[in-house]
Amino acid sequence: QPVRLSDYRPPDWLVDTVHLDIRLDRHATRVMARLAMRPNPDGREGSPIALDGDELVLKAVSLDGTPLAGTAYGATPSGLTLFAPPQQPVLVEIETWLDPSANSKLMGLYRSSGAYCTQCEAEGFRRITYFPDRPDVLAVYTTRIEAEREEAPILLGNGNRVAAGEIEGTSRHYTIWHDPWPKPSYLFALVGGRLDKVADEFRTATGRQVELGIYVEPGKADRAGYAMDALKRSMRWDEEVFGCEYDLDVFNIVAVADFNMGAMENKGLNIFNDKYVLASPETATDADYANIEAIIAHEYFHNWTGNRITCRDWFQLCLKEGLTVFRDQEFSSDQRSRPVKRIADVRLLKSHQFAEDAGPLAHPVRPSTYREINNFYTATVYEKGAEVVRMLRTLLGEEGFRAGMDLYFDRHDGDAATVEDFLACFADANGIDLTQFARWYAQSGTPELDVHGSWDAATRSYRLDIAQHLPPTPGQDDKAPMVIPLALGLVGPDGEDLPLVLDDGANAERGVLVVSQPRQSFVFREVATRPVASLNRGFSAPVKLTSNLSTDDLVFLARRDSDPFNRFDAAQTLALAHLVAATRARSGGAAPSATPLVEALSATLEDAALDPAFVAQALSLPSEADVAREIGREVDPDAIHAARGDLRRTLGDALRPLLEMTYPRLAPFGTYAPDAGSAGRRALRNACLDLLAATAAPADIARAVAHFEAADNMTDRLFALSVLAHGAPQQREPALAAFYERFRDDPLVIDKWFALQAQIAEPATLDRVRALTGHPAFAMSNPNRVRALIGSYSSANPTQFNRADGAGYRFIADTVLALDGRNPQVAARLLAAFKSWRALEPRRRSLAEAEVRRVADTPGLSPDVADIAARSLS
Ligand code: ARG
Ligand code: ZN
Repeated sequence: QPVRLSDYRPPDWLVDTVHLDIRLDRHATRVMARLAMRPNPDGREGSPIALDGDELVLKAVSLDGTPLAGTAYGATPSGLTLFAPPQQPVLVEIETWLDPSANSKLMGLYRSSGAYCTQCEAEGFRRITYFPDRPDVLAVYTTRIEAEREEAPILLGNGNRVAAGEIEGTSRHYTIWHDPWPKPSYLFALVGGRLDKVADEFRTATGRQVELGIYVEPGKADRAGYAMDALKRSMRWDEEVFGCEYDLDVFNIVAVADFNMGAMENKGLNIFNDKYVLASPETATDADYANIEAIIAHEYFHNWTGNRITCRDWFQLCLKEGLTVFRDQEFSSDQRSRPVKRIADVRLLKSHQFAEDAGPLAHPVRPSTYREINNFYTATVYEKGAEVVRMLRTLLGEEGFRAGMDLYFDRHDGDAATVEDFLACFADANGIDLTQFARWYAQSGTPELDVHGSWDAATRSYRLDIAQHLPPTPGQDDKAPMVIPLALGLVGPDGEDLPLVLDDGANAERGVLVVSQPRQSFVFREVATRPVASLNRGFSAPVKLTSNLSTDDLVFLARRDSDPFNRFDAAQTLALAHLVAATRARSGGAAPSATPLVEALSATLEDAALDPAFVAQALSLPSEADVAREIGREVDPDAIHAARGDLRRTLGDALRPLLEMTYPRLAPFGTYAPDAGSAGRRALRNACLDLLAATAAPADIARAVAHFEAADNMTDRLFALSVLAHGAPQQREPALAAFYERFRDDPLVIDKWFALQAQIAEPATLDRVRALTGHPAFAMSNPNRVRALIGSYSSANPTQFNRADGAGYRFIADTVLALDGRNPQVAARLLAAFKSWRALEPRRRSLAEAEVRRVADTPGLSPDVADIAARSLS
């Protein structure tokens, strides 16, 4: 029973207003819903009213004030149908009861650390009341929330608070919230509990005064300051860059400890995983601060891209997610370093999305069918979705892109829109045809672009022959050519870009070639000397690029390219080629030389003009998973690990003088500040520490111990701990123990401690992880704990997850099965760790396959896990 995009039909009944009256109780919460409904003129005439439900207990239902006879409706926990309603506006009143304490799926209304909270996207509202739980039913909500004052002094809902009071003669109180903006049910939220508040305010461009609140567990308010600052900067930025202004008098954020995902953009009441709100220098790393800034911005930006303009159906998920990720990436680029942000984003894209595209879970940015929508909150929908929007901007230019966005906000405000609607705005605003471009939404897989450049001295011309190929992916054997915006430069011997004059006299507009044919050639004129082509600058298209650039060309680009991304990328390409060759050489053949890479990295380390954050990125080698993906088949994770370890040692030795000079130069001064500049200095200092320690020389290990002991912030302390945990077995245990003692009462920090231990690349790690599942700080019920300990083992420890004896696979499959009954979303995500199993060498491949099959064959699986298992085996 998969859902298909092509089966979309408008709803038969619409809901104009929703009045909810929710009486919170730990085990017996009563929900009264009053729905003003009317037949949809675009729906099928004479339809029954069919409402979704999930594990609901119906107490009463009435139509226009009259209780319905048992024959007039059918009710199950998963649906309520009114068989023959009059075909006119009606008032449907429903009373249901639910048990928030028993809700371990963390979807719908549940309890987290003693507070009540909700998660409704994608299909959680139906766990609160019967409703047409689909994003194209937009209604105005009024919510009354009632609770024991002692238990829940804070009661929050969507929109503005319009009333509050005591219930005479009882220990209970209530608040009433009204959200004037029509919204789909997935944006509904409420929170009740004993929470501390950080308050601030914001004045919008047109003078609306907005009260801001961030609510956290009691005692943690001092950790919400950075999130509040990020929120205010986000609100200003969206006004300045996209002309998007906030539209309510209140904006609240609540941080909760138990949350399936990162955060949720409920209208006026964002709910966050506390990992993405709470930060202090002692407990959060620079990466945590950057994530908080990005996710606060992301959820806030959804207010326009997601809430004011929402999605017609869940196939259009990328319409809000890809676009909003693009927007949060741009925000972070403006707040921090644009090139470094781009490098970080592309690293993430390649490690998660390219991996997804290369395996059995590959799917288009806009899928055309699904069994369980929760399984499509993926790197493809989010990150590749953002790349597609970025390509639009590259093709149209800044102004053309903004014109398209303006038209989108103008034309579709209040709509439940589609990808076609979105693209039409850019086509109409720019007078162009985006039909072929739209294939980025429909065709899965990573396009391969092969570029061959040749310079002809006689005609002073430079010719690029380009071939594109999109490999087959599940359900898509044959592909049509894509539109690929290829930003490039021809770099002269002095490092300066040559003018790009195409053969037909045209300039390659803004340095971008538009590749749209399977094979295509471009000839540049007036190229007096042999240039080096700098291709796909800024990663202008999410493609896998191969070219005839030589090792010397790459070393040259790594030293001289004016495009910082490609400077970085040239060195990474050298490193990746080395690692692939070194991995292959382990089963016979000549070991490659690291000299070109050493040369490139030396030049980078010596260039005093470079941002330390950039240099740190350059020094950080492609991951073992990156190498595995590049090799693509018959992967032996142990060989990759060994080759990468060798290269790290080689670099530590070869770069030692530079590393030893750079490390002290970046010693901290003053108190910790989370800004990008300070973070960049820490990142480079830590990268130096790491490469030096890779040599395992006693003095370098001693430096790491001293670094650990002297650290006054989590970034340095955790980094040094990780260097010791991976590279110094003697020093590991005392350091881990000291870290634990210091932070034992802080679950978010203990997650780092779990994660780090789960990533140690040695056989004893499996027993260590098993033992840690019994640690008092661990809890299977908390998704952060599961991801930190077990998720790190399955997706950040390639040699141990892929143990040659299959014990890693068995452990993860066992855990998936144990978790599935409790929390299917988290279980399904864990199972997705098997996504690259087909690329493994035969022995591991069959062991991994057997474990996925064992999961697939288990009776009573959730739809979430059943779907991942079935697609993984397809
Ligand atoms: N819309 C949220 C975001 O900002 C993600 C929520 C996903 N939740 C889920 N249960 N699938 O990206
Ligand atoms: Zn989002």
